[in-house]
Amino acid sequence: MSSASAAFPLTADVLAEKIRSRTARVGVVGLGYVGLPLAVEYAEAGYHVVGIDLAEGKAAMVNQGESYIGDVPTAAMAPLVARGLLKATTDFSVIRDLDTVNICVPTPLRKTKDPDMSYIVAACEEIARYFHPGMLVILESTTYPGTTDELVLPMLEKSGLKVGKDFFLCFSPERVDPGNAKFHTKNIPKVVGGTTPACTELGRLFYSQALETVVPVSSTQVAETVKLLENTFRMINIGLVNEIAIMCDGMGINVWEVIEAAATKPFGFMPFYPGPGLGGHCIPIDPFYLSWKTKQAGIEARFIELAGYINGQMPQFIVAKVQNALNEVARPVKGSKIMIFGVSYKKNIDDVRESPALDIIHLLQKRGAEISFVDPHVDEIRLEHGPLKGSQASAAKDVDCVVIVTDHSAFDYKALVNDAKLIVDTRNALKGVQAEKIFRL
Ligand SMILES: NC(=O)c1ccc[n+]([C@@H]2O[C@H](COP(=O)([O-])OP(=O)(O)OC[C@H]3O[C@@H](n4cnc5c(N)ncnc54)[C@H](O)[C@@H]3O)[C@@H](O)[C@H]2O)c1
Repeated sequence: MSSASAAFPLTADVLAEKIRSRTARVGVVGLGYVGLPLAVEYAEAGYHVVGIDLAEGKAAMVNQGESYIGDVPTAAMAPLVARGLLKATTDFSVIRDLDTVNICVPTPLRKTKDPDMSYIVAACEEIARYFHPGMLVILESTTYPGTTDELVLPMLEKSGLKVGKDFFLCFSPERVDPGNAKFHTKNIPKVVGGTTPACTELGRLFYSQALETVVPVSSTQVAETVKLLENTFRMINIGLVNEIAIMCDGMGINVWEVIEAAATKPFGFMPFYPGPGLGGHCIPIDPFYLSWKTKQAGIEARFIELAGYINGQMPQFIVAKVQNALNEVARPVKGSKIMIFGVSYKKNIDDVRESPALDIIHLLQKRGAEISFVDPHVDEIRLEHGPLKGSQASAAKDVDCVVIVTDHSAFDYKALVNDAKLIVDTRNALKGVQAEKIFRL
């Protein structure tokens, strides 16, 4: 930041000084998988942090020092709440006293696969009500390129304040990977791009106080597109390997062995793994934010649509595998007892959003199967006809077929191989185990 005279300091310099001295009051809107770890990180760095969420239950839990997110241990959070560094509320008027606000609200898709911007709009409407000079606002929710400058900026400029001069606006994609023991909010490099150079600089300064590596880029649009490239890259590569898995299945080749051997190439290859379908709040959704936006420019995102189609077929493919497995013992799916091992969308976490397990269960139920599930991280799931409570793994011996959908580390696979009559393994969890009753993807 430029240096200003002590008598008339530039808004940016005042804010920069507050950020450096850790007297800036930090706000995080949306205390979910992204927002809560971020709020905790800033409280740990010594800032006074207020989390704002519509869910009263979440705010109450934060204020009791209790975490509801797997990657945030209560033991780390409770002392921050006790020291008054972290609190939460449902009342947006606290924004009057805040210097920075990070927006971490959901960005799902509508049924038509169009972006659902209602959460961002609702959050920004509230921020705009209590907006004041000298604020830094950073959007972290994954979204289409242009959102920050085309949607958020006009809402904030209605105040009459000028971006880059009176207030500062950035986009910074969130890359958190729930359940990842090595990389978490603090040590994942943080990309940030501002509406003006002063915005980018304040965004860089803000993140560099609490996070290890900050990567400034030249605009909010670049920062928005970075996230979509990363997730589209993953989605398309998973689509490719799912297609290879279907091909290998048709040719009787073990796709897992193929990938393992290919991955020994020290350059030009990166392993991706097939599975029962995409899940979570990112990979199945984010690429469609990009394809929606590019459609407006007359460009069709054909790779994205194709990978979306192939990945979307995987639950059907797994159900066909279950059918084939049951055929071997001359049982129809209808009336068979089928147990799903793992219902969260990936291993060792409790998030079931968009989980392929839910699609597989739905398809099997439609064919008349009797479904149960086991998941050490999930007690209950909501299905079309109501809730379903988890069972004990020992009940695997009483069912006709077990389908390993999510390969949690806590499962006792040796016991499962002993107990189960038939196993469909969609994750290669039983790598190296040879038995006629095992059917692999
Ligand atoms: N979960 C991930 O692994 C991940 C990773 C990278 C990026 N993201 C992106 O981050 C964003 C947030 O995702 P998440 O997984 O943390 O979602 P989440 O559903 O876990 O949390 C969002 C929170 O926002 C709250 N909320 C909704 N509307 C609100 C409003 N108007 N005001 C205040 N609070 C509101 C909800 O009650 C919820 O607690 C999304 O855009 C997502 O795509 C998520």
